This record gives sequence, structure tokens and C-alpha cells, in this order.
Amino acid sequence: MCGIVGYAGKDQAISKTINCLEKLEYRGYDSAGLAYIQNNNVVLKKKKGRIHELKKELDYNIICNTAIAHTRWATHGYANDINAHPHQVGKITLVHNGIIENYDELKEMLKEKNYSFVSSTDTEVVAALIDYLYQANNNLLDVLTSLKDYLKGSYALAIICDDDKNSIWAIKKDSPLILGIGTNEYFIASDIPAFLDYTNKYIILDDNEIVKLDGHGYSIIHGGNTITKEIKNYQSINTDSGKGNYPYYMLKEINEQPIIIDKLLRHYLSDNLSSLIDLSIYKQIDIVGCGSAYHAALIAKSLFEEYSDTKVNCYIASEYRYQKNFYDRDSIVIFISQSGETADTLACVRNVKERHIKTLAIVNVEDSSIARESDDVIYTVCGSEIAVATTKAYTAQVTILALLALKVALVKKMASLDEIKKDVAQIKADMESLIDNIDYEIISKKLYQQHDIFYIGRLIDYAIALEGSLKLKEISYINSATYPAGELKHGTISLVSKNSPIIAIITYDKTKDKTLSNIEEVKAREAYTIVLTNEDIKSERIDELIKIPKVNKWLQPIITIIPLQLIAYHVALLKGYDIDKPRNLAKSVTVE
Ligand code: AGP
Ligand code: GLU
Repeated sequence: MCGIVGYAGKDQAISKTINCLEKLEYRGYDSAGLAYIQNNNVVLKKKKGRIHELKKELDYNIICNTAIAHTRWATHGYANDINAHPHQVGKITLVHNGIIENYDELKEMLKEKNYSFVSSTDTEVVAALIDYLYQANNNLLDVLTSLKDYLKGSYALAIICDDDKNSIWAIKKDSPLILGIGTNEYFIASDIPAFLDYTNKYIILDDNEIVKLDGHGYSIIHGGNTITKEIKNYQSINTDSGKGNYPYYMLKEINEQPIIIDKLLRHYLSDNLSSLIDLSIYKQIDIVGCGSAYHAALIAKSLFEEYSDTKVNCYIASEYRYQKNFYDRDSIVIFISQSGETADTLACVRNVKERHIKTLAIVNVEDSSIARESDDVIYTVCGSEIAVATTKAYTAQVTILALLALKVALVKKMASLDEIKKDVAQIKADMESLIDNIDYEIISKKLYQQHDIFYIGRLIDYAIALEGSLKLKEISYINSATYPAGELKHGTISLVSKNSPIIAIITYDKTKDKTLSNIEEVKAREAYTIVLTNEDIKSERIDELIKIPKVNKWLQPIITIIPLQLIAYHVALLKGYDIDKPRNLAKSVTVE
């Protein structure tokens, strides 16, 4: 969500800043803008739409050594040229990621001081506030130090002041901001990949730290004092290596799953899971995440409860952070996040840590905020995930969670490693055959003109259905609803009519016959039924049967999702949508 870039260096500030900004495109945005210094003037360029629209306005030949840039994911005000960042008020030009909750009252106060506003954003209010405070004392460091006393909400800011146009100031609270250290050039960005073309040295900024950078160096100030922070080297495989021969990142990432999952499983099984934390010592396990990460948690709940006899509670982070929680010292809270920056999940980590409860993060992005702030972290190591709709990170999360549940079952002598090892040898081939040997386009042709699609399943199959349905909604914009199969008859079956598409998941033996009865019920209302199953089911009630390999129970959910990912992909492709960057969505949801 939103990308911030600042560059202070030798020359080529425009091209380098834009290059960095493009590396953040995957986060999702609706407009882009840049401020650079030319002949000692601050020049603003901003455009609704993609970065390539902004690029049309730029002249890369301009010699310039300082620039700030932004991709905006609108929270306050429409996506248009005026609301795009940077915003400029008085002597202050800035870009902002986050939300200012008290912007209304600040705006009123500033209007009384004769400030006027051209945009509808909360960000312009911050620019005016900083200008107002700066006009009073001419000391930007003091102003930024006091900012936390004025602003409620979250912010990462990169600022240029008219009185020192070769410097960039930056400050953050509850939104990520990283300093990149090159040779005679320095970067500020909301994510490390932004500047990896120029340097892999970085410093992570913490809340209320202020950084000042120019072409000669940087200083970090906290509470009025200059501080020294560890410079880290980014060594992760988490770099975007391009789409290769695939038309979209999403398809590439779906195809990467067999190798990633095979590698993860072999890695942990090679030492018989001894490197994994033993969760059997905890009396209460809460798992917290958003969107697909929450769906991965629901899969874990089924595995833990059914096969490890261990109660697990799953929560959506944006609810968990405000609800009453019942953990105590014997509890562990597991946070799941691909990006490691999701604002709601991060806020939960902080709340839980304040109560001194043990935290474990399952995260993809190395050294991200959730990874750093949790007591322990397990990385899903699946490389950069660029498509907004997660695929490989989700299956990697499910894999780690399945292994954690298996470990508890082993400790409790409810399982043996031998039962899983045989299927692990086969999983890569099974996943590949599911990707390659089914004609998803034919199935998708039956779906892409529909307005409503239903997904049903029971227990673990319901959790899988939720994720399949989310994938479809995210990228095809078709409304799809997911129901526990037995729940249809309690109301929602009224929505089913002739040719309503119903996608049913049947992999869980215990509920197979029950879900089949529900298929009969919708077929009796002339629905169009697609069944995804690992069973040999023959029924004329099924219009389309997708057969998936039957594998060990710990591994089954990892492969069952694949056809649902591919159906969503092909439906969106048929509709001609931008699959990797669906409208309104962001990869890294850093606002509440
Ligand atoms: C998944 O396709 C979505 N883009 C979304 O639900 C995502 O899973 C959610 O925003 C959580 O993100 P995180 O894993 O980075 O925390
Ligand atoms: N709240 C600001 C706006 O709507 C910043 C949004 C963002 O993080 O991109 O302009």
C-alpha cells in the first residue's frame, strides 16, 4: 500500500527515484507523483493512474540530486491529480503514507491561521501543520520532534523544506520507512526492494526517529539526540526476478509452488521437525491474520483440532486488536503475514507483547516489522511475491502450520513421520500435475460471465473454499460467497436458482456424504455444480468434476487450493483484467 521514495545523491535523482518507485508498484496504488529540485526550485509532477502516466511528464536529462516520490493508495479523497502526492504548503513539500485520524480538527485550526487547502487529503493538512510550526521557530528538527504531539494516526513522511532544498527529512510512526545507504547517495523508502538496484545496505527506522539525508550522508535523531543504528546487509532471496515467460506474476507464482513446498517440507522433515517450535507446551494457541493469512489460520485450526487434539482460536487481526482477549502466560499468539507489514496484524503483535504473551510470526518478507517485533519468526522463504493475490505465500503458510500441527501430534504420539514422508516424495509431482493437466480455461468459460458464484465445503474444506472464493473476488470482481455446506438450507439456498454456479470442495472423508447431499439439494434447484474432490465420486448431479490427488491428511489442503487459484486466474484473464494489480487492492496493507 502506497510507496514512498526519497533520493539524495549525485545526479539522476529523477530517473533513480522513479526506478525505485517502480519497484514498489506491486504494493498497489492509484496515482503517482514526484517533487525534484531544479535550479533551486521545487518542481512538482503528479498524475492519477500508473507510474508510466507520470513518466510521460518527466525529463530524465534534468540534472538534479534530490527528489521525493510517492505512489498513493487513496484513503482520504478521490484518486485524482490534485489529491496525488507530493503536497506542498508554504515552505514544505512532502509525501505521506498512512492516515491522520485527527486531520479534520487540525484542518479547522489551520484554516483559522489562514491556511487554505486544495486537496481533500489528510496529507495536505500535515504539510500545512509542519509549515505552520516551522514558520514559528525555523527549526525543522524541533518541529518534527514535536509532531507526535499533534498527529493522531500513522505516518511515514519524506519532506523537503524550501530553506534547505538539498536535504530530505523523514520521520515515521506506525508506517514502515527504511534508509538505504549507497555510495555518496542515500535513499528513503517504504520497502527495501525499492533501492536494491543501488545498494543492499539499509537501516530500519523505528517510530519517532527522524532522519536527515543529503548527498554527503545521513543522521538519525531520536528525542533530540543523534543516534547510531546498525547497518544491515540485505541478503534475502526476496528480490523480484521478473515475470520470466509468464504473462502475469500470479501465474508465475502459482507455478513456483511445487518447488517451494517441496523444499520447505524437505527442509523441516530432514531433522524430523526438531528445528520447529513445540506448541504442545502452550495451553492456548491463538492465530491471527488478515485475508488469506486468516484463511491459512483456519486450515491450521482444523489440522490442530482434528489430528493433534489441540484447541486453536483463529482471529481476524482488525477484530483481535479491539476485542477482549483471554490469553494468559501459558498462551502463544501466532501471527501470519506475507508482507510482515500489515498494520492491523502489527498492531496486534504490539498489543500482545505489551501483555508479555509469547508471540510467533510466520512471515515471508525478511526483517519486516512483524518478523522483527515478534519473539520468534518462521520464514516462509518463498521469494518475493509480487501479485497482489497471494498464492505461493499462502500455501507456504499452510505448509508451516501443518508441520507445526504435525509436531504436536508427534509429541502426543498421535502421528508418525513415516506416514507423511511417502507423500512428501510425491507432492511436487502431484502439484505439477494439478497445474498442468487440467483445462481450467474450459471450466472458467462457464463462470466468467456470472454475477454470483457460491463456494461450499465443510470444516477444512470450508476453510479452503473461503480462500478460493477470495481469490476469485480479488481479481475477477465477481461476487462470490462461501458457506459451510450444511448452512445453505438455513437461508442462503434462497439465492440459488437455475444455473447458479456452486463450487463444492470435498476432501474431508468424514463430511463427504453430507456435502454430497447438499449438492443434491442445490442441483434440485437447477444449480450448475463444480466439485473439487480427492474421492472417486460418480454422480450425475455433478456437472464438472475436478479430481485432485488424495494425499496424506497433513498435506491435502496444500494441494487442494491449486485448482481454485487457477480458476480465479483464468476467469480474470477471460474478463481481461489486470491480474497482478486488481483495482482498489494493495499488496501491503499498511493502513488500518
Ligand atoms: C490475499 O490475496 C490478499 N491480498 C489479502 O487478503 C492478504 O492476504 C492480506 O491483506 C494479508 O496480508 P499479509 O499476509 O501481507 O499480512
Ligand atoms: N492518507 C493519504 C491520502 O489519502 C496517504 C495514503 C497513502 O498511504 O497512500 O492521500
